[in-house]
Amino acid sequence: MIVLRFLHVVSGALWVGMFAFMSFILLPAFAEVGPEGAKLQAALAKRRIPVIMPVLALITLVSGMWLYQRLSGGAIGALLKTPTGLAFGLGGLAALLAFVVGIGLARPFMMRSMKLAEQMKTASPADRSSIIAEMQKLGARGAVVNRLVMALLLFALAAMAIARYV
Ligand code: HEM
Repeated sequence: MIVLRFLHVVSGALWVGMFAFMSFILLPAFAEVGPEGAKLQAALAKRRIPVIMPVLALITLVSGMWLYQRLSGGAIGALLKTPTGLAFGLGGLAALLAFVVGIGLARPFMMRSMKLAEQMKTASPADRSSIIAEMQKLGARGAVVNRLVMALLLFALAAMAIARYV
């Protein structure tokens, strides 16, 4: 139980923390510097963020569902009728949605723009302007999806934080 809670809280904190850093600091900074950021974006791709974040998310989700099952003692319907059970349940649902939207929509944007950043390193000056235009388009669309995932994650975090006390 202690291992499960440890895995759950630590991976959840890292998942939300990394995503918040990306949404509130890294992406606005990339938007500000424009094409200059391509080099850094290519360097970030090497740090395996597209692998680390989904793994952290999966550990959080699986351990969370397991904790929920244990907390309910097998009676999930009854747990959902209590304020604490409902808060953990709604928070868990928000986290699950954040994962689905993140993998289904945000990730393809991120992978494409990392690929473009890689191409920028060797692109001819003529190709550069079309790559920059595509990166800007991707950035604008990705920002909308990112905001949605961030809102869901913050809701999940807030629900987890207060669930025991409602
Ligand atoms: C963004 C993702 C998540 C974060 C940051 C997160 C964070 C946390 C934290 C900090 C706690 C400790 C709260 C306390 O003891 O008062 C906790 C507990 C818990 N979480 Fe999550 N969580 C996440 C996702 C989930 C998911 C998907 C579920 C699945 C339903 C879930 C179910 C639970 C349960 C049942 C507990 C209580 C464990 C116990 O019995 O002590 N969590 N979570």
